[in-house]
Amino acid sequence: MIAVENLTKVYGKRAALDHVSFEVPAREIFGFVGPNGAGKTTTLRILAALMAPTGGRAFIDGADVTRDREKVHSRIGYMPDFFGVYDQLTVAEYLDFYAACYRQPNAGISSWTLSREA
Ligand SMILES: Nc1ncnc2c1ncn2[C@@H]1O[C@H](COP(=O)(O)OP(=O)(O)OP(=O)(O)O)[C@@H](O)[C@H]1O
Ligand SMILES: [Mg+2]
Repeated sequence: MIAVENLTKVYGKRAALDHVSFEVPAREIFGFVGPNGAGKTTTLRILAALMAPTGGRAFIDGADVTRDREKVHSRIGYMPDFFGVYDQLTVAEYLDFYAACYRQPNAGISSWTLSREA
């Protein structure tokens, strides 16, 4: 379950998020769409506990994204549409990279499994 309450984010003097609230129940597949610059990436970075909001609160399975960041990191997988660092990575290496970032115990296993199946 994801809960977002009055989330705001100000970059400099410009508000990217202005009191955004919504809820996503457990097991729901949720499409988060909007025009360019609407604040989707900003919202997702805050929900992934990668960036602090200016105001408001957000929770992942009850874990506060500003206070329980470690718990949020263990509960959420976030893969951005553009990953600008390592262009040469295979899909399996991407998965392993993110698994390791989120300290998942089986990090490294997908490369091994995929290479065995190839
Ligand atoms: N690091 C930043 N510094 C200053 N302004 C930013 C920063 N990141 C985003 N913005 C601004 O905040 C607003 C929301 O941007 P955001 O990237 O969250 O939108 P988006 O919905 O993901 O857009 P897109 O569909 O283009 O990916 C935009 O006006 C953007 O220019
Ligand atoms: Mg975006």
